[in-house]
Amino acid sequence: MTEIKDFPETLEQWRGHWEGILDKGGNPFLCPGADDTKRNIVWTSRKDETEPFVLLSENSSLDDAKRIKARRIQLPNSVVDTNHAELCGLLPNKTYYYRCVTNQKHSEIYSFNTKGESDIFSCIYISDVHVGSSKDNPEVLTETGFRLHKVFLEALSHRPDISMILSGGDQASSGKADEYRAFSASPVLSEIPINCIVGNHDKKNFVYTYFFNNPNYKIDGSHSFIGSDHWFTHNNALFLCIDSNNSCLGDHIKTFETAFSENPGCKWKILMIHHDLYGGHNKNRSRENRLLANLLVPLIDKYGIDLVTGGHSHYYSRSHILHNKKIVEKTDGKSETTNPKGTIFLASGSVNCPRNTKKGYLPGPECAADHISTDDRIYNIFDFQGDRLTVRSYAMGKKEPFEVFSIVKHGLDGAHPRTKFPVYYGLYRAITFIYGLINNRIEINRLHKKGIKE
Ligand SMILES: [Fe+2]
Ligand SMILES: [Fe+2]
Repeated sequence: MTEIKDFPETLEQWRGHWEGILDKGGNPFLCPGADDTKRNIVWTSRKDETEPFVLLSENSSLDDAKRIKARRIQLPNSVVDTNHAELCGLLPNKTYYYRCVTNQKHSEIYSFNTKGESDIFSCIYISDVHVGSSKDNPEVLTETGFRLHKVFLEALSHRPDISMILSGGDQASSGKADEYRAFSASPVLSEIPINCIVGNHDKKNFVYTYFFNNPNYKIDGSHSFIGSDHWFTHNNALFLCIDSNNSCLGDHIKTFETAFSENPGCKWKILMIHHDLYGGHNKNRSRENRLLANLLVPLIDKYGIDLVTGGHSHYYSRSHILHNKKIVEKTDGKSETTNPKGTIFLASGSVNCPRNTKKGYLPGPECAADHISTDDRIYNIFDFQGDRLTVRSYAMGKKEPFEVFSIVKHGLDGAHPRTKFPVYYGLYRAITFIYGLINNRIEINRLHKKGIKE
């Protein structure tokens, strides 16, 4: 259970916390490890700090602490660097204490809990946080970071035992190091890991590639200039984290094949992508979403994905049950489905940039529910409870969720049919490989022309 009473509550308290971060040792934050026996750590420090390491102990005084070496990661276009460390061999149902150290600074002592082996756990899902920055107005950075922190506090007031936070891309508006620093500045993230995926705005700089410390992440195997797919397990759920800006189908097939062959016994299969394939509301994005659906849906169907999470449009929507791009079960007006024969696609709204739909721009025919507002900042809580996964979607400041929907699934697969890849898939693989290479070069050149260095 996370103790929330000592966290900053007001903008003034937040400002004090945010402005002192580098002097206090970089406000470490946690990312998931490859499974629950591991956690990854990130903290920022000034360019002249060196020799980073982490002290880890089950004892709050750190008397008998293990010293774990960290890696210095040089951030481009930034006055700070990040330090990455991996904590391994963690046991269930424990509290661990840690401190991050360089040759010049050390952080406060933080703690985190590991989960027991019960299959009951909860995650926060957010998307399009869009922490922003402005040369003329430093308040933008402070306020957008604070709003995200307030979302965490409110979600924790509903569910104090949240054990994972998931962010569906567009963490930052311009992809700058300061934006990611403000995104990860909440002290909640020193206790609960956050998993992020790439959004299109994260590709506006080269920083994202180096900032986060993702598990099962191999940058050399990717044809995307911003990085690679990754995956992890948490309890009995497998989370596949795909860069949906990267058209190279071969990369994504490799991610699915490896993740599933290494984790055959996971009950819940969650795919995180940035784009909302079926949300509608935005006519000029429908072609891009159709193309992405042609690429990704055969993978989703072959591996029996239960829930696809997205964002990008900044309009909240939840689909009917879909298989092979068709509705196989209508769910409007329903609160649950049992052993569905397909997948639900969820698109969350934005945390910092809620958007009202233009007149006449309707939800897609695949949508079962949507929630459109210029004001409502959306977050979701996923409750995993044995055979039941419930998605509760909230507008910030409201006590009750505006949408609740459960998937009930018996066994590992329920009734989800497993289909083979279509015959055209081999051709797509070849075409998207070449397109991916060319597109990367174009995007890298575009950033270089703006004076943004790798
Ligand atoms: Fe966005
Ligand atoms: Fe986006």
